[in-house]
Amino acid sequence: MWIVSEKSSFRRIFSFEAVSWIDGTITLSATKFNIMAFNFDNIASSYDRLNHLMTWGIDRSWRRKAVAVVADSKNPCRYLDIATGTGDLALDILHRAHPQSSLVGVDLSEPMMQIAKEKLKGLPAEFSVADAEALPFAEGEFDCVTVSFGVRNFVHVDKCLREMNRVLKSGGRLMILELSYPDNAVLLALYKIYALRIIPILGSLFAGNRKAYEYLPHSILHFPKPDKFIPMLKQAGFVNVTHESFTFGTCRLYVAQKNAE
Ligand SMILES: C[S@@+](CC[C@H](N)C(=O)[O-])C[C@H]1O[C@@H](n2cnc3c(N)ncnc32)[C@H](O)[C@@H]1O
Repeated sequence: MWIVSEKSSFRRIFSFEAVSWIDGTITLSATKFNIMAFNFDNIASSYDRLNHLMTWGIDRSWRRKAVAVVADSKNPCRYLDIATGTGDLALDILHRAHPQSSLVGVDLSEPMMQIAKEKLKGLPAEFSVADAEALPFAEGEFDCVTVSFGVRNFVHVDKCLREMNRVLKSGGRLMILELSYPDNAVLLALYKIYALRIIPILGSLFAGNRKAYEYLPHSILHFPKPDKFIPMLKQAGFVNVTHESFTFGTCRLYVAQKNAE
């Protein structure tokens, strides 16, 4: 059963236990408490602060490492940053990119992008509200597509990956940075305590929104690990897929290329 509430932070709520991944699509079978299509509007103003707090500031270095892999300082590029949020990744990209590069940021949440617009004032960046499932761009418009900490929130990940592939130029690069969990059983047990018990408390104390930060660890724990996610990238038309883990596997970087014709 679906509980739909546009007023709350969650547009659709359903059982945590019911979630499973089949070919990149979240499927559900029972009710209880889980969230699909979480609405970031309500946490926009505290998002950056909480992000840095919960990751102990390490999120900055994850973004920097990811940007170092895809930002091209020698050639002007057109970047698309999907789920751009408050624009931290977009900002890092434009700082490292060729000065004649440009960037388009898209997100479902206008309040998140308001913060991005402020941060990137004066830089060659534009922002628009758009859904990763149906990007309002022509085929082959971008040299590079990036997504940081966005993909696990997408409802139909396979559809979004195909859209990313469509808007990339032939040979263009995709970079996905996403939160994950450790492979090691002991570290995983500790991680679960932190993510499932401590993070919601931090969310409640510092963002006044416990529910939002109950959603976060579940969205991480339900997102496919590399053994499942890499085949999904290939299925969507990407080649030369590489994967790197940061900080005991709590963050993963995927880089891939659109098949050159
Ligand atoms: C955790 S934030 C990540 C923001 C930013 N990329 C960063 O590195 O901090 C996830 C963002 O994904 C956006 N989002 C979720 N589903 C989306 C979709 N289908 N299309 C576009 N943006 C989406 C949310 O609105 C939110 O701003």
